[in-house]
Amino acid sequence: MSNFHPQPSIAIVWGSSTGYTEEAAQLLHEILKHRVDVCVDIGDISVVELQEFDVLIVGASTWHVGELQDDWDACFDDLEKLDLKDKIVALFGCGDAYGYPFTYQDALGILWERFEVQGATLIGRWPTEGYEFEESRALTPDGKQFVGLALDEHDQSQLTQQRLASWARQLEEELATLAERRPAVVASR
Ligand SMILES: Cc1cc2nc3c(=O)[nH]c(=O)nc-3n(C[C@H](O)[C@H](O)[C@H](O)COP(=O)(O)O)c2cc1C
Repeated sequence: MSNFHPQPSIAIVWGSSTGYTEEAAQLLHEILKHRVDVCVDIGDISVVELQEFDVLIVGASTWHVGELQDDWDACFDDLEKLDLKDKIVALFGCGDAYGYPFTYQDALGILWERFEVQGATLIGRWPTEGYEFEESRALTPDGKQFVGLALDEHDQSQLTQQRLASWARQLEEELATLAERRPAVVASR
């Protein structure tokens, strides 16, 4: 990433089939309200509009055993058109570790694989401690973290609010660190 704004425009963009990821997106929006420009269903925005934001906080649940939630699936091919080399992406998702232990949170991995190819910088990795699952496509290369925040409304719903609050703080810290590391670029904008 070569360009970063100290007060970046931020979009929360989510896809949700039964409302869990939508609810998480709204909670996150409440927490980060002062920083977030829009909180929108991916079904209600065109993919090219995503490029208007410096930071995309992307929410997606996993469905059909290891597949993307339907609204993300519907626009997935269009994501190839995006130039995200100056953009930051953070991911959060809802899954079910007990019901789908071999494809837990795969949607986050599928989306990050695409966003990475399009040049995005990832923030918001999240440790796997405290989760019980067998396999996930959403792991970092060292296998120690998820590529984003994993929420589980079926098995660990009591942790959701606390996880979202901690993750939101983490995102703010990571964004502040990125801004500090690029003073010359920041000054030029
Ligand atoms: C048919 C079906 C398939 C699912 N497949 C997965 C899966 O592969 N991995 C996973 O972590 N969760 C899986 N889930 C669980 C959903 O991701 C979970 O219910 C989630 O909370 C849905 O969020 P949403 O309402 O935002 O779409 C599946 C659920 C159903 C009903």
